[in-house]
Amino acid sequence: MIFSRIIGTGSYFPEKVITNSDLEKIVDTTDEWITTRTGMHTRHVSERDEMTSDMALKASLRAIEAAGIKAEEIDGIFVTTVTPDYAFPSTACLLQSKLGIVGAFAMDLEAACTGYIYAQNLANALIKIGQCKTILIASAERLTKMTDYTDRGTCILFGDGAAATIIQATEEPYGILSTNMSADGSFGELLHMKGIGSVMLANRDVMKVEDNLIKMAGNEVFKVAVRMMVDASTKAIADSGLTNADIDFVIPHQANMRIIEAVMKRSGIDPDKALINIRKHGNTSSVTIPSALDEAVREGKVKRGHNVLMTAFGGGFTWGAAVVKM
Ligand SMILES: CC(C)(COP(=O)(O)OP(=O)(O)OC[C@H]1O[C@@H](n2cnc3c(N)ncnc32)[C@H](O)[C@@H]1OP(=O)(O)O)[C@@H](O)C(=O)NCCC(=O)NCCS
Repeated sequence: MIFSRIIGTGSYFPEKVITNSDLEKIVDTTDEWITTRTGMHTRHVSERDEMTSDMALKASLRAIEAAGIKAEEIDGIFVTTVTPDYAFPSTACLLQSKLGIVGAFAMDLEAACTGYIYAQNLANALIKIGQCKTILIASAERLTKMTDYTDRGTCILFGDGAAATIIQATEEPYGILSTNMSADGSFGELLHMKGIGSVMLANRDVMKVEDNLIKMAGNEVFKVAVRMMVDASTKAIADSGLTNADIDFVIPHQANMRIIEAVMKRSGIDPDKALINIRKHGNTSSVTIPSALDEAVREGKVKRGHNVLMTAFGGGFTWGAAVVKM
């Protein structure tokens, strides 16, 4: 039987940050409000000329090094992002070229904040049917360039960054034990950014700057996010054949500290098992889970044999979860 195992992780965040006190100068907000309502303190900001593919490359090189493989061994690349460099070619093709490899399939996967869970699910399937042996998932987001810095309800949340994982076929009973992914497109309007599509076209004077910015009904998103992340987590744990007690760590999507607390409480899992990096990075969409994983692996917290539950929710709406034996 073939399993898909995470053999290397890497992450990258730009040096420049926006602090809560920086935000106090831009919109009508306070450090205290942001801290208590979101748990966030800083978010990273990419340079004007630092593109999504550049950040994806930095994280990917770290993951390749950690995995101890050569880039040539990679036979598939998923880039998860809502901020591709271009409509096409895909950011995955740009990344493949920057890695100096050819032949591996390369495609972007857009499932908003759930992108990493979706990509992991598909990588697992491709490995299990024997089509691929080594897949790179690079999650990279440049959300600060799509953020409306006049909207205090959203501009406090988003940051830039990238994280990568290498997933490889193994015959050992390790890796992705269970995974699920779901969507409900009827919720699309509650969280959207219409700019990069065929409806809003700059060359036909249809697109306004505001069409290129994230719009969100935060409160409504909040309620559905908690429900769906709990449902997906419960299913992933049941499908893995494990129980809550067997889960060593939980990596929830880092959208809001209060969402994380509610998910932990309603899932009935010890809240101390949650790995949280929201304070430093804010919400980096599909980057939050793989970056928290990378940090925990590098800190020596998550080790071989640990059972890690990952769960996410995002625009679409999309949601999903996975249980991974490291
Ligand atoms: C956005 C979010 C932090 C807002 O927190 P909230 O507790 O839901 O706050 P509400 O939207 O109910 O607004 C409460 C009040 O705070 C105000 N407010 C909103 N942002 C504020 C800010 N940055 N500073 C101060 N006040 C703010 C609102 O205007 C509102 O004021 P009012 O009562 O006078 O109308 C929260 O809803 C959230 O995180 N939602 C989910 C976001 C998310 O997960 N997005 C991505 C999904 S992957």
